[in-house]
Amino acid sequence: MKHLAILASGAGSNAQKIIDQFRESSLAKVSLIICNKAEAGVLQIAVREHIPSLLISRHSLYETDEVLTRLKLLHVHWIVLAGFLWKVPGKLIAAFPRRIINIHPALLPKYGGKGMYGMRVHEAVIAHGEKESGITIHYINEQYDEGEMILQKTCSVSPEDTPESLAQKVHQLEYAWYPQTIEKLIRENK
Ligand code: GAR
Repeated sequence: MKHLAILASGAGSNAQKIIDQFRESSLAKVSLIICNKAEAGVLQIAVREHIPSLLISRHSLYETDEVLTRLKLLHVHWIVLAGFLWKVPGKLIAAFPRRIINIHPALLPKYGGKGMYGMRVHEAVIAHGEKESGITIHYINEQYDEGEMILQKTCSVSPEDTPESLAQKVHQLEYAWYPQTIEKLIRENK
């Protein structure tokens, strides 16, 4: 059984889909949810799903070994970012080589980088009159949104789309592809 930790900062709808994917699995399970916002919906999901959670501060993430220690204690094998808005520190990247993945709600390398998250991404895509957007699943490296790409899926952007309607389309792609891509990676790297 491979243990997964999810890092999230927001509502946690992707986290929920990942939890669902592995609920009955003998391959992997979500064993920890790490979050940097006390009011984030993902923490309520953790309570409801009886999954341990860890609320972190910038200090604990960047200046202490609290996260690494907890991950090691739980024998965490994969770290999955699902709407996590802080940079992953280098010591975590070094401890989990090619074992930390992220989903970005656009077609990288466009609309990525610091400050590009959630609705801001969809607003920028609409403002630039793009005909296409989508998702990018990629490994994490030390630069925001620049790690090796694993998968991209596209959706069309119509002239009627708003940032909200585009967000919905992109969420549907995320739910359809992120959990199964995580499962595939775990199977291939057992
Ligand atoms: C998702 O759309 C995810 O792709 C995005 O945040 C949203 C989280 O929604 N991540 C980023 O923008 C990372 N740069 P959720 O909390 O409902 O899963």
